[in-house]
Amino acid sequence: MKEGWSEAADKRRDAVKLDDYRRLARARLPRNIFDYIAGGACNESTVRFNERDMDAIRLLPLALRDVGDLVLSTDLFGHSFSAPIGFSPTAFHKLVNEDGEAATASAARRLNVPMILSSMSSIALEDVASRSDNRELWFQTYIFKDRAMTKELLERAEQSGYRSIVVTIGCPVAGKRDKNITNKFTLPVGVFAANFNRSNVIVHNNPIYGVERAEFDPSVTWSDIEFIRSQTSLPIMLKGIMNPNDVAPALDLQVSGLIVSNHGGRQLDTTESTIRILPEIADAVGGRVPLLVDSGFRRGTDILKAIALGAHCVLLGRPVLWALAVNGEAGVLEAVNMLREELVIAMQISGCRSIEEIRKNAQTIIRR
Ligand SMILES: Cc1cc2nc3c(=O)[nH]c(=O)nc-3n(C[C@H](O)[C@H](O)[C@H](O)COP(=O)(O)O)c2cc1C
Repeated sequence: MKEGWSEAADKRRDAVKLDDYRRLARARLPRNIFDYIAGGACNESTVRFNERDMDAIRLLPLALRDVGDLVLSTDLFGHSFSAPIGFSPTAFHKLVNEDGEAATASAARRLNVPMILSSMSSIALEDVASRSDNRELWFQTYIFKDRAMTKELLERAEQSGYRSIVVTIGCPVAGKRDKNITNKFTLPVGVFAANFNRSNVIVHNNPIYGVERAEFDPSVTWSDIEFIRSQTSLPIMLKGIMNPNDVAPALDLQVSGLIVSNHGGRQLDTTESTIRILPEIADAVGGRVPLLVDSGFRRGTDILKAIALGAHCVLLGRPVLWALAVNGEAGVLEAVNMLREELVIAMQISGCRSIEEIRKNAQTIIRR
């Protein structure tokens, strides 16, 4: 039997792929919480595009390449991570597990993969850093209407040892989430945006819009990125790039990285899938800064394709929450190891020994 499979071959396993955690989480979570996490904007077309478009890209494996030894390590912002896999920022991890973001961040540390903590975390950013002992966390923020508070968050993140700032763009207003509105979704008692004062405002569509003082600002422009840059010495990444025309202004502002993301199809329905737009954005970036991508990545082959199409690292949103719901920190470890194992197999069978080699072979192994 192949080394690395942790369970006995004759014992039926509950989860053999990331999507199994979704099914298992569904059975455990209250319906409105499951819907809040799984859901997307309006008809959820983009949620489907994200996952289905992975299959539209076919592979042409290269044979006989001596793939006995693989290198998966990935350098980002001066740290060598163990794989080109990381965690997207997602709000309120305590919705699915009482240890919340502290458990997720601890799993990220043990896996040596990057994790972006959401500004809407259900444990304060200082406590996530100290409880997880993860010294490689990145912090996500929006540009809130209250710029003084935005600045305060940046300072807190820097003081607590976060390594970079991820500014989410493409969210001037809330995308419409039919399911949350139907369910009249509200956060359960005990779960709230812990980086802010507890809020009594109820916004069924999306609770992050009900956080007092953390009001979103539809008037945000590129000059506000300049403002963020003037407030922190940390590297800045922009999350939410979906149009190649937005690459030049971002690079003009000397951001340190870009994340191609349609926020898991949760903002503007019918937005293009990230895997389809990725090559055009990678062309525009031309290797000047690291390019990351999220939205719909579930299989090792999805990761291989993203790298071949120009990404340095692929981030996971919902699957991390599903795994956390199913088995806490251990669930996250298990799920990511499973995905990593799939990536290893995909690299070996496609004839790529390293992340760099996936990139080099891109023209031959990918058929669109
Ligand atoms: C429950 C949930 C909460 C999220 N909260 C945030 C957030 O606070 N900030 C943010 O930039 N993106 C947020 N996102 C979007 C994710 O960062 C990411 O872009 C998306 O989940 C990736 O797609 P995937 O879930 O298909 O992997 C959230 C997504 C989910 C599912």
